[in-house]
Amino acid sequence: MSERTLVLVKPDGVERGLVGEVIARIERKGLKLAALELRTADRATAEQHYAEHDGKSFYNDLVDFITGGPLVALVVEGTRAIPAFRQLAGGTDPVEKATPGTIRGDFGLEVQYNLVHGSDSAESAEREIKIWFPNL
Ligand code: PPS
Repeated sequence: MSERTLVLVKPDGVERGLVGEVIARIERKGLKLAALELRTADRATAEQHYAEHDGKSFYNDLVDFITGGPLVALVVEGTRAIPAFRQLAGGTDPVEKATPGTIRGDFGLEVQYNLVHGSDSAESAEREIKIWFPNL
C-alpha cells in the first residue's frame, strides 16, 4: 500500500552537504520523491511542525535550530514509506539509538543535530505535509 511521509533534511544536513546522500538513500530504498523544496522555515511553520513538543525542555532549542538556516523539505512516497524512512533515518540519538548503516548512525553525533526528520505515523504525515506543502 503506497503512502506518503514528510521528510526534512535539517539545517545541519544541508550545511554539511548531505542532501544528496539522504536523497540517494531514499531512492535506493525504492521510495519516490513527490515534492522537494529548499527553504528557510519561519518560526510559525516550525512551531506548528513541532507543536506536540511545546513545553518540553528542548523545544526552544529545537525551534531555534530548525529555523536557523535552509532546510530541504520533501514528500516521499511508496510502499510503507512512513516506517521505511524512519528505518533509513535511525533512532533519534545518533550515537545511543541509531545504528551504523542509518543516516543518523553514519553521520550524526548529537541529538539536536540529527540531520533528518521523518513523520512518525499516518496522522503526523498528513498533518505535516499540509504544513510544508499546503498545495500538494
Ligand atoms: S519525545 O519527547 O520522546 O517525544 O521526543 P523525541 O521523539 O525523542 O524527539 C522529538 C523531536 O525533538 C528532537 N529532540 C531534540 N532537539 C534538540 N535537543 C534535544 N535535546 C532533543 N531531544 C529530542 C528530536 O530530534 C525530534 O525531532 P524530529 O525532527 O521529530 O526528529
